[in-house]
Amino acid sequence: MIIRPRRLRQSAGLRSMLQETRLAPQNFISPLFVVSGKGVKDPIAAMPGQYHFSVDTLVKEAAEIKKTGVLSVLLFGIPDRKDEKASRAYADDGIVPQAVKAIKDKMPEMTVITDVCLCAYTDHGHCGVTTPDGKIDNDATLELLARQAVSHAKAGTDFTAPSDMMDGRVAAIREALNQHHFPDVGIISYAVKYASAFYGPFREATDCAPQFGDRKTYQMDPANTREALKETLLDIEEGADMIMVKPALAYLDIISLVRAECLLPIVAYNVSGEYSMVKAAAEKGWIDESKVMMEMLLAIKRAGADLIITYFAKEAAAILRNE
Ligand code: PBG
Repeated sequence: MIIRPRRLRQSAGLRSMLQETRLAPQNFISPLFVVSGKGVKDPIAAMPGQYHFSVDTLVKEAAEIKKTGVLSVLLFGIPDRKDEKASRAYADDGIVPQAVKAIKDKMPEMTVITDVCLCAYTDHGHCGVTTPDGKIDNDATLELLARQAVSHAKAGTDFTAPSDMMDGRVAAIREALNQHHFPDVGIISYAVKYASAFYGPFREATDCAPQFGDRKTYQMDPANTREALKETLLDIEEGADMIMVKPALAYLDIISLVRAECLLPIVAYNVSGEYSMVKAAAEKGWIDESKVMMEMLLAIKRAGADLIITYFAKEAAAILRNE
């Protein structure tokens, strides 16, 4: 034999030198759930290790996250009151604006991203408002999403991340942000978001499961590839600053395709179901949790993601720092 690939795997030093992909805490974004109240840190049953935080405890958690080297958080609000117009989604004194202000006050250098979507705020749990005959009213929803994004911008968010999958929302949000003099607030578009069963635990955490029907008229069919490019190209045209693919693990082919076809940073969302499956198997002693976690995150990065939104952010960053 002349060629022996194993020559390059002989020692830990060589393997480390030749590693093609490396994870770094700076590439992780940590999602956080915020509720009203004071001193709240309630465990989320379906997502072991994740909590509902009130604004005060959220700021402490963000500080802990920052210590591990993770530079960014993604905020999800859980309102006290839901109604058919999602009124609490775009209120300037809403739970997310409060949380953004509090984090930015204490840690101005932390990059804050806010989820823009109505599903946690509507009484029917859909991501948009509905017509009298129970259909999703795309264009009426755009105005509310734009107001929601502006309310987050007023509080000081760095990026808004629309996850609703309405057509035209990136353009609507960009226009509203510009009109309200927030040209520097960016948009991380959930451009490629599939109608996935992997969101199950999250829907429990934010109480946002649709009360009728499903999300298949706005989220994408898991069978589709070309449609991912169509959504990506549209959102780039509408002014997105980064493109998100969601979920991550069952969609590595899509991440790698979008990476090859576009110049913007790619963000992959390692979603709740992907997280909770690992936690559950680890609880049963069936897998080595840390190793599986790191391998999953590495695979997402190898596929082409620049940034990874993951509930593992703090744990994974701590491991990387101790390496
Ligand atoms: C809201 C939203 C969802 C997630 C992020 N934003 C749920 C959904 O679309 O039903 C899922 C996140 C996760 O599972 O971790 N539209």
